Amino acid sequence: MNAVLEAPQTVGIRPLRDVSDPLSLEILELKRRHNAVILAHNYQIPEIQDVADYVGDSLGLSQQAARTPADVIVFCGVHFMAETAKILNPNKPVLLPDQDAGCSLEESCPADRLAALQRTNPNFYTIAYINCSAAVKAISDVICTSGNARKIVENAPKDRDLLFVPDENLGAWVTEQTCRPMTLWKGNCYVHVEWTHNAIQRIRREHPGAPVVAHPECTKAVRMLADEVCSTEKMVTYCRQNPAKAFVIATEAGMLHRLRRECPDKVFIPAPTERCACNECRFMKMNTLEKLRDCLRDRTPEVLLPANILEKARLPIERMLEISARP
Ligand code: 13P
Ligand code: SF4
Repeated sequence: MNAVLEAPQTVGIRPLRDVSDPLSLEILELKRRHNAVILAHNYQIPEIQDVADYVGDSLGLSQQAARTPADVIVFCGVHFMAETAKILNPNKPVLLPDQDAGCSLEESCPADRLAALQRTNPNFYTIAYINCSAAVKAISDVICTSGNARKIVENAPKDRDLLFVPDENLGAWVTEQTCRPMTLWKGNCYVHVEWTHNAIQRIRREHPGAPVVAHPECTKAVRMLADEVCSTEKMVTYCRQNPAKAFVIATEAGMLHRLRRECPDKVFIPAPTERCACNECRFMKMNTLEKLRDCLRDRTPEVLLPANILEKARLPIERMLEISARP
């Protein structure tokens, strides 16, 4: 096994919060019976976060998936995340409570269109944001998440032309920090592009002492007003360490539960858009406690991938984990 995958954990399995409703207790019992692990993204509904063994961002979830000794992985997130867990664990069942939980970024970048663009420049080195299909990962050189994108780009070969897919906003943010020009795929997250410069300026005026924390999938017009731009997991660290008592959060609404759980003495204000203050990813919200119970009980829906994709997509993910683990 790859040495990186055996490295000591940098983030531990989170202890469960007390849950006492019958459905959550049934899930915990099924989990024990199947020797399963429940991995949940920060955007999952609070009830799912509270029964999960680990809650985190895409990077932390991939690291956990790479190391788990469990027999079964239940992935409470979206399809590309569960696929990543499957690629790292080809011999284990990986379950996703709702198999229709997709992602607008993944949809924007079909593998055949990416392959056609790659053919226009044999010197392209393709860096794929983890929010893409397994087929796209299989034809990419390295994967990144919002938590390690800067490091991955800094470590890319200097003599290659960088092609960054599929999030143009994350790609532009990394270029600003690394000064490394990249060809950007024109994809975006339909949730994060809802925040506007005007709406953030308004909320800043209403809460003058509250730092604004934004995800790099937001547009530049929003990022330039933010005090901190980072992955969802780094939001937890930032808010914990910053002495401020209130924060404006520009990312998907599920993050507020995680932050309130980690920093119970602080106030988290959802950043408003022009239309409403409730930025929920419809894909992330497809998973429910009932579907989680059913998938554990029936061991379906299971994520399955063709053998050639499993094999080819593993290398760029392992390359990401290896670069991420470097000091
Ligand atoms: P993180 O890796 O920062 O949690 O981002 C995942 C995601 O889908 C953001 O929209
Ligand atoms: Fe995809 Fe955006 Fe939903 Fe994240 S929040 S899963 S990027 S659609």
